[in-house]
Amino acid sequence: MNAAKREQIVVTDVGPRDGLQSQEKILTPEQRLALIDALLLAGVRHLEVGSFVSPKAVPAMANTDAVVAGLPPQAAHYTALVPNFKGYELARAAGLRSVTMVVYASDAMSQVNVGKDWLTIEAVTEEMLQQAAGDGIEVIVTVAVAFGCPFAGNTEPAVVERIVEKFLARGAAQLVLADTIGAANPAQVNTLARALVSAQGAAQLGCHFHDTRALGLANVYAAVEAGVRRFDAAIGRLGGCPFAPGAAGNVATEDVVMLLEQLGFDTGIDMAGLLQAAQLANTLTGAAPGGRASAWLQKSVDKTAQTASQRQSQQPLQKDAGDRMPA
Ligand code: COA
Ligand code: ZN
Repeated sequence: MNAAKREQIVVTDVGPRDGLQSQEKILTPEQRLALIDALLLAGVRHLEVGSFVSPKAVPAMANTDAVVAGLPPQAAHYTALVPNFKGYELARAAGLRSVTMVVYASDAMSQVNVGKDWLTIEAVTEEMLQQAAGDGIEVIVTVAVAFGCPFAGNTEPAVVERIVEKFLARGAAQLVLADTIGAANPAQVNTLARALVSAQGAAQLGCHFHDTRALGLANVYAAVEAGVRRFDAAIGRLGGCPFAPGAAGNVATEDVVMLLEQLGFDTGIDMAGLLQAAQLANTLTGAAPGGRASAWLQKSVDKTAQTASQRQSQQPLQKDAGDRMPA
């Protein structure tokens, strides 16, 4: 397929936030920046770089301001998670032009995660959207437990539809449906995503899946089939929410990118670079399990490198001819 004609899908790597927030090993801002640099090198252009939350609640996300200060300017679209207005103000002071605010499709989850009821959090989000419009900052709204909640069970689609409609109308840049604990199944995802794409269009809709029950990639596929063109994923299948029992890693960026490219979409991301970033995630945390595509991809990278070196030794003057791994 001609690369110029392929439809684009945006993959946001949330590894530096969702991936690192519950790791036993707490990384320094320099190590977090090294992971971000590896992702940038692989061609990732959308990154959730950290969160502005209480360092007592989530020690791994302390010093996100130092991470933001070290980001290569204009290299990518950077956002950070915020749980409240204080987080918004800290992100703005750090110089970010995008924040990701979390609202809840279950009151119980809201109480556990941020100690406030869900409607209070919606009111804070409305206030934030107004302030952000004046500040020239975009607000992405993530709907936590959009498919199922560890405390309240299955989520009613009508609840998510109401929240999505409300915050798009109030100027949110995107609405992301988050399967916080990996409770979603592909039929449920396809039905809800179809309803939302039909009611709101696909441009501002995203999905965020966790791979708790090996359904993560199937859920991505179900959402793609419904028309969704924005996905969150975490390098190396890092991830999990410290406040949601049972939550496992996010879908691995390397698995999601491979799936999307195999389906004929253009992610703009280089698989070989992604593998290196996954290896770095593993080395830094000592815990990243890695995407399931990793072993196969590594073999392909090795084979491509071998072919390239054979070609180079035959034609020493034609350096670097087509040795980029087919995505
Ligand atoms: N960033 C940094 N510090 C913050 C903060 C923020 N966004 N919001 C509040 N704080 C600080 C307050 O200044 C206060 O500090 P102090 O104890 O030194 O005075 C302390 O946190 C408590 O503030 P309070 O308003 O009473 O909040 P709380 O104790 O009810 O905690 C949250 C609420 C939201 C701050 C806290 O639960 C939190 O950060 N949770 C993290 C949620 C998260 O990241 N979940 C995973 C991703 S969805
Ligand atoms: Zn998540």
